[in-house]
Amino acid sequence: MSVDRGSWSSKFGFILAAAGSAVGLGNIWKFPYITGENGGGVFVLIYLVSVAIVGIPIMISEVVIGRASQKSPVGAFSFLAGENSSWKFVGMLGVASGFIILSYYSVVAGWALNYTFMSLTNFFDGKTAEQISGTFNTLYSSAGINLFWHSVFMILTAAVVVAGVKKGIERWNRILMPILILMFIIFAVFSIFLSGWKEAVEFVFYPHIDKLKPSGVLEALGHAFFTLSLGMGAMLTYGSYLDKKTNIPQAAIYVSLLDTAVALLACMVMFPVIFTYGFNPQAGPGLVFQTFPVIFGEIGRAGMLLSFILFTLLVFAALSSAVSLLEVVTSYFIDEKGWDRKKATLITAGAVFLFGIPSALSGTGLLFPEWQTMYGKNFFDTFDYLASNWMLPLGGLFISIYVGWAMDPALRKAEFETGGNFSKSWYYKTWLFFLKFIAPLAVIAVILQRVGIIDFDILF
Ligand code: PHE
Repeated sequence: MSVDRGSWSSKFGFILAAAGSAVGLGNIWKFPYITGENGGGVFVLIYLVSVAIVGIPIMISEVVIGRASQKSPVGAFSFLAGENSSWKFVGMLGVASGFIILSYYSVVAGWALNYTFMSLTNFFDGKTAEQISGTFNTLYSSAGINLFWHSVFMILTAAVVVAGVKKGIERWNRILMPILILMFIIFAVFSIFLSGWKEAVEFVFYPHIDKLKPSGVLEALGHAFFTLSLGMGAMLTYGSYLDKKTNIPQAAIYVSLLDTAVALLACMVMFPVIFTYGFNPQAGPGLVFQTFPVIFGEIGRAGMLLSFILFTLLVFAALSSAVSLLEVVTSYFIDEKGWDRKKATLITAGAVFLFGIPSALSGTGLLFPEWQTMYGKNFFDTFDYLASNWMLPLGGLFISIYVGWAMDPALRKAEFETGGNFSKSWYYKTWLFFLKFIAPLAVIAVILQRVGIIDFDILF
């Protein structure tokens, strides 16, 4: 990319691409199911607080590093902190996180592809809620189908990354993101008429403190990183293609608000269905696939079309996020090892595919059948847990420490203020305060609590 780094066509192009990276399976597939597993309201509240006080300040920092260095993560730290500085390892950690996340992300995106295809065959029409929910289990335990869609999705991702981000992803995002949001609003309105709506609103928005599990705090914080694509250099890399005129804080706030809106909308579509049909909110990773089609089944023929549109949009949301994950890994080999884009994309995508095979087979019991007994989670869940709850928060912690304490202050201030909108000095000071103190302390506190060194229960 140092040869042909490219750039976004405008500020709007950047916001869309960054939003495309942020809005993905994290919002529609993951957020509702972990909200369900963690008892609803309190979890949502901690997540919202994490987005505001940790997520937004770190998103600004990542874009600041990216634009200031015009490089992908590893190169960016060498450029800003010096060739031999250990900050480079933060970039390396990011590349590793991207690799791991994409390996199982592609499996879930594969399920979305499978459901898109099922919509075309009008599969849900006339099926009972139980039948629809049982179908997911069939899919989950089928080795062949999982591997098939996992490979299709990795090929799609590689195809976009080979072509360069601007021509592919930026253009598609422009069309698909607005449609996605519109569709969710329509579905959310439809859900208001379901009998379980009130219960759903109460579940998602009313914080029952007693339902909070200590592990839920780390999970909510980790999810704030995951859903905003933070802590592994995706936003950093996208920031490196940003022109010098755009105001970074403003763009970061738009992206975060959009991302949060989609996540909450997804909950407001899914939970009414869950409570109306008596499903279990703790159903885990299958949740979105077991709830949406129930509405489609109800509306008959038109349901087929709506279901097709919805799952196609889900696939695109996943694709625009997957592309940013692969871009971080690929651009490392292009920038640091001098590979050309084609070679880098094919090799890294191939490696990610292979690494994803155990995740794709997690529901089949074929590979590592003892994994779950040993570690309490299957292979797929273990990788999601490691990457989202540990690698991203740690990556984010180092990024906030770097920008808050180690980066050249003049450069940092200039990057923050370019573009005008946030030039009043208290904006900068507020950001810096959150970045230097609040964000790192929050991440450290949550990690210490998780490791058992401090116990928040005593404090309350
Ligand atoms: N933010 C994406 C989602 O919510 C996932 C992602 C994580 C993408 C990290 C890039 C980097 O689906």
